[in-house]
This record gives sequence, C-alpha cells and structure tokens, in this order.
Amino acid sequence: MKPLAPGAETVDLDAERREAGIDTFLADLDAKLVGLAPVKQRITEIASLLLVDRVRHRLGLSADPPTLHMSFTGNPGTGKTTVAMTMADILHRLGYLRTPRVICVTRDDLVGEYIGHTAPKTKEVIKRALGGVLFIDEAYYLHRPENERDYGQEAIEILLQVMEEQRQDLVVILAGYPDRMERFFGSNPGFRSRIAHHIDFPDYSDDELVDIAVLLLDQQSYQLSAQGRDAMRAYIGRRRSQPHFANARSVRNALDRARLRQAHRHLTTGVVAVADLMVIEDVDLLASRVFSGSIAIH
Ligand SMILES: Nc1ncnc2c1ncn2[C@@H]1O[C@H](COP(=O)(O)OP(=O)(O)OP(=O)(O)O)[C@@H](O)[C@H]1O
Ligand SMILES: [Mg+2]
Repeated sequence: MKPLAPGAETVDLDAERREAGIDTFLADLDAKLVGLAPVKQRITEIASLLLVDRVRHRLGLSADPPTLHMSFTGNPGTGKTTVAMTMADILHRLGYLRTPRVICVTRDDLVGEYIGHTAPKTKEVIKRALGGVLFIDEAYYLHRPENERDYGQEAIEILLQVMEEQRQDLVVILAGYPDRMERFFGSNPGFRSRIAHHIDFPDYSDDELVDIAVLLLDQQSYQLSAQGRDAMRAYIGRRRSQPHFANARSVRNALDRARLRQAHRHLTTGVVAVADLMVIEDVDLLASRVFSGSIAIH
C-alpha cells in the first residue's frame, strides 16, 4: 500500500482497487457463482465502501468503520452459506476482518438445555468467532415465543450486546428462509436495527440451475452430453414442483446420483473410452425417480 503523498489533491482509486485485488476477486466470484446479480452487486458495493474507507483513514479523515452485520434470506440451496464464506474472504482481504474464518452455528450451538448453560455457551461461540464472521443459520429458532422460559432469549440478548459493542471485530450474519426471518425481525427489532445489509437470495431459474449443473460438473472434470443437458433441464422442471426442492442443492444431489449411475453403467460395459468417463448422459438422469411419476424423496 503506497503512502499517500502529503498535500495530494487526488487519490488514484483505480490503483488502490488493483492493489487490493478487488477486480480479480469479483471476476472469480462471477465465475464461481451462477446468477445472483443483486448479491454480487451488494458485495461490490461493500468492497467499494471499505476501499474508500481505508483511503480516508490513511488521509486522516475520521469516520467509524461501517457496521457490517447482515441478514441473508432465501429458500434452501440458494447460496447463502456459500456467499457467507465469500463475504468473509473479501472483508478479510480489505482489512475489515482479522481472519476469513466463518463460524457456522445454529440454535443448539448457542442455547443450553439447563439454567445457566446458555450464557457460557453463547460467549464461547462468540469468542471463537471474534475477528471473523459468525454465521447463524435458521436464526429464527433462537426465538421461541410459545415457550416463556426459553433460554434462547438469553442468547439473543448476549448477541445483541456483542453486535453493538464489538461491531468492529465481528460480523454477524443471520440466515434463514424469508417468511420466518421476517417474523423473527418483527418480534426482535433489536436485530433488525443492528443489521446494515439485508440481502435477499432469489430462487434460481431453470436456466440458471442448468448452468449450475454444468459448473458443478466441470469442477469435477465431468460434462453433460447434449442429451444429458436436455435431461437435466427436464429433471429440474419436474423436481421443482416436488417436495423438498432445494435449488442448487437439489441439482448437486441429482448429479451425485447421476455419477453413481454412470459409473455403474460403465462397469457393466467393461472396457470404456477414457472420454466417456467424463460424460454424464441422459440415461444417467432419466433413471431418476423424479421421472417415474411417484413422489420423489430426494
Ligand atoms: N449461484 C451458484 N452457483 C454455483 N453453485 C451454487 C450457487 N448457489 C449454490 N450453489 C451450490 O449449491 C449448494 C448449496 O448452496 P448453499 O449451501 O450455499 O445454500 P444455502 O442457501 O446455504 O442453503 P440452506 O438454506 O439449505 O442452508 C452448494 O454446494 C453450492 O456450491
Ligand atoms: Mg446454508
């Protein structure tokens, strides 16, 4: 990082940007994550804010570091956990966090079963997370209005305090499904007011899910044949209307099973071309129960 010339009237933000590696990071992010344009946009904005903040700090222009607690709302498999990891990475790269570590927890990691257990449990988790990101999945389970002696409330109060007092050394990300998160914020306004960024993760379109399938396969040196691609698209179309549909995770699971069938198909053939070991064919997907008309379990 170059020292800023005394009395300089301009700052070369392009150079700052290059030096911080933001463009490479964002290009990687674009290649690694299909779709999610609004999420990528928000990450870009936060990166810009931190970069400018850093320059201002070096110029002696005072400002508190921004609060960066966030909420990620979206249906299952829309990329919330994946983006939390990425977020920690960029916040660390830009010097906001001491570590890119993300501690992922749910209610059971924070709330004890007996009186007096919750505070030490929550504080221990916070201690581990300090300097990085604390990701609380399905955050609404912390609040159980039906149970008046619920220990969750104790965890909530400690979290609220830490989010205020240690906001410079910890980013808390609350994640969950949209409607339940909305209700949770409704009954816990303290959380809502401490959160600087509410980021919504929309369901993926069929086209995006096919692209995700191609990307996930490519990462494992597989590809879809042309018919395989059509079968994948048909699979997604049917799977979406069945129970427990989980966006990109359903695609990932379908591909795991397709690989299993492909391996089995080749083993029964005996000798195969090396190139064929890399290809998922339509038959590998069409054998799925999703096409059998009965209700799919996965
Ligand atoms: N935009 C995307 N591009 C490529 N892969 C993706 C994308 N979104 C999700 N995935 C993949 O799908 C899987 C599920 O994503 P992830 O675990 O981040 O979802 P989630 O929103 O946290 O789900 P849940 O709410 O069920 O915890 C991961 O393996 C991830 O790599
Ligand atoms: Mg998740």
